[in-house]
Amino acid sequence: MGAILRQRRCWQVARFRDDLGKMNRFHRWYCQTSHWRHTLEKTVMPWALAGVELDHDVLEIGPGPGLTTDWLRLRAKRVTCIEMDLELAGSLQSRVANTNVDVRCADATAMPFADRTFTSVVCCTVLHHLPSRELQDRLFAETFRVLKPGGAFAGTDSLGSLLMRIIHLGDTMVLVDPATLPSRLESAGFRNVRVEVGSGRFRFLARRPIASHNRDKPSLTKSTVDQFCLGPHTRG
Ligand SMILES: C[S@@+](CC[C@H](N)C(=O)[O-])C[C@H]1O[C@@H](n2cnc3c(N)ncnc32)[C@H](O)[C@@H]1O
Repeated sequence: MGAILRQRRCWQVARFRDDLGKMNRFHRWYCQTSHWRHTLEKTVMPWALAGVELDHDVLEIGPGPGLTTDWLRLRAKRVTCIEMDLELAGSLQSRVANTNVDVRCADATAMPFADRTFTSVVCCTVLHHLPSRELQDRLFAETFRVLKPGGAFAGTDSLGSLLMRIIHLGDTMVLVDPATLPSRLESAGFRNVRVEVGSGRFRFLARRPIASHNRDKPSLTKSTVDQFCLGPHTRG
C-alpha cells in the first residue's frame, strides 16, 4: 500500500513538473527511431558502458522511449528506470510490463529510492536536459546517495555543435563541460572519475568509494583527471 501511495505521489509531482526538461517534438520522435536504435546499439552504448559491470540492480536515469533500456535489460538482472516525463514513463512501463524492468515516473534530482539501493547507475544523453548546472549537481548527489559503495556511475552526454543547437530549439540544452565534470563528480563524493571525449559526445565513469572515509581522499591526481579530459578524441 505504501509503495502504491509513493508511486502515485511521484506521478503527481511529475505531472506538476511535466514542463521541466521536456523534449521538443522532433527530439521525442528521433529518440524512438530505428536510426537512433542502431546508433545506440552499434556505437553509443558499447562505448559508453565498456567495462561497466551491469549484472545486478541497475538504475537508468532518463530512458525516454526506452531504446537504451532495451540494450540494458539484456545485460542486467534488474533495471529500474526513473523518467520524469509522464507520457514517456507511462508508455515505457506498458511496453516492458512483466519483464526485468520497472519504470518510476519521478525526478532524478529528488529520487524516491532508499540510500545504497543500486549496484550501478547509467545515464545516457540526459544531463544536458536538466535546466541548470545546480540541478545537474543535484542529480550527481542523488546518484551518489542511491548507489551501493563500490558501485559505478556511468554514461554519456553530447558535446556542443550547430546541429545540437538546431535539434534543441524550444528544448532544454544546458551542456556539461567534460573538463569540469571530474571535479563536479568528486564534489558529490565520487572517486576514480574518468571522462573521455569522443566524436560528438563524451563518456564518463565514476565510483562511489567502498569506505566512506575515502570521500575526503581523491584517488586520482589532478593531472590524471586532466589527461582524461583533454586526451585525443576517439570515435564513438
Ligand atoms: C534525450 S532523452 C534520452 C533518452 C535515452 N536515454 C536515450 O539515450 O535514447 C532524455 C530523457 O531524460 C529525461 N529527463 C530529463 N530530466 C530528467 C529528470 N530530472 N529526471 C528524470 N528524467 C529526466 C527526459 O524526459 C528524456 O526522456
